Amino acid sequence: MKALLISRDSQLYADIASQGTARVPPLNIAASRTSVRDALDRPVHDPELVIVDASELDAADTDLLERLSRHFPSAQLMLLTGQQQPDLLIRAMRAGVREVLQLPLELAAFHEALDRIAASAGVLAARDGKVLAFIACKGGSGATFISTNFGFALATLADKKVLLIDLHGQFGDATLYVSDQKPAMTLSDVCSQISRVDGPFLESCLVHVAHGFGVLAAADDPSQAKEAKPEHIDAILRVARQHYDYILLDVGRQIDAVSLRALDCTDVIYPVLQLALPDIRDARRLLDIFRSLGYSTDNIRLIVNRYEKGGKLRLQDLHSALGAEVVHTVPNDYIAVTDSVNQGVPVLQLTRSSAAARSLAELVELVTARRAPESKGLFDRLFGRSEADY
Ligand SMILES: Nc1ncnc2c1ncn2[C@@H]1O[C@H](COP(=O)(O)OP(=O)(O)OP(=O)(O)O)[C@@H](O)[C@H]1O
Ligand SMILES: [Mg+2]
Repeated sequence: MKALLISRDSQLYADIASQGTARVPPLNIAASRTSVRDALDRPVHDPELVIVDASELDAADTDLLERLSRHFPSAQLMLLTGQQQPDLLIRAMRAGVREVLQLPLELAAFHEALDRIAASAGVLAARDGKVLAFIACKGGSGATFISTNFGFALATLADKKVLLIDLHGQFGDATLYVSDQKPAMTLSDVCSQISRVDGPFLESCLVHVAHGFGVLAAADDPSQAKEAKPEHIDAILRVARQHYDYILLDVGRQIDAVSLRALDCTDVIYPVLQLALPDIRDARRLLDIFRSLGYSTDNIRLIVNRYEKGGKLRLQDLHSALGAEVVHTVPNDYIAVTDSVNQGVPVLQLTRSSAAARSLAELVELVTARRAPESKGLFDRLFGRSEADY
């Protein structure tokens, strides 16, 4: 989006320019003027957005705003004000200003305003990432193994840009499942610098596991975990959606204010459970919580982990007990999974032909819906099987 900035403040110019270039699609300051009069005298060709720093405007100048709005009829107007100036605000609204933000500029509010402007101008973000949450119905169900290894599979098999956020308040271990790097930054560090969060900053805080796949580690000290507030999660996910195709959440078992906010922003929740009565009991409690929160059952899809065919409990029993759909099963693959977890190497990289790796590739197919009926799917291309082998 092309913008004209009207301000004398060079620091404000620098802040808006750097925030703008980090957006997808970027906001380019095509020109700047020191005053509204200057902008009227030296017009700019067709900006889509005009940002006016009103710190030096008073009510008497508001007719200039009206002239400005007539001058750029197809541009949206954004006003930045240092103090409360009710008269100015009313006149500005009449002049067609739709967004008024306080100075000093709060970056989260600025980006939200730009999102609204972009949406009403019909400018779509290049990425519109999906948020998928993996939550263990019972301790040790396999949510961390599946979410981390699925993230690697999505990035490497489907060429998606993937971010995994470890939301465990304590004992977060997601990075260890797929990497031997020690995280330099964690979720709580990002939250403590929330006003800096943009695409490049977020990317710089990740443990990079593979091309297109990074993990934002959980705080390693539970006292630091308190740093994360629900509104931080909103801001991080908003930025993440613009920069990644998929944002995976390893939610852990605790449901607190932070994980709830994250689940509120989630497109699909994948509760992970094993086919055993204690897991089913806990899954039912979890699903009851989701229902009481008003989450749609359509967006809750069960994954059965360590599945073995021929057991006493069947998948249909699970469906009727829980009223939610089982979308996928991951086989019990003790050797491949234990080797992978112990070495901190994704199972798809370590033993590509293992049953666990194949199952993750199938999950990639399912989630990305890449498999056209008439074409050979990713799974077949990878493992060289024909449809007849299923
Ligand atoms: N499909 C599988 N086959 C064999 N073993 C598995 C499988 N999935 C997970 N495991 C084993 O189960 C262990 C627990 O898995 P994981 O840590 O992913 O569970 P979790 O749901 O994240 O547990 P927590 O509640 O501790 O967060 C792993 O260390 C792994 O060795
Ligand atoms: Mg876990």
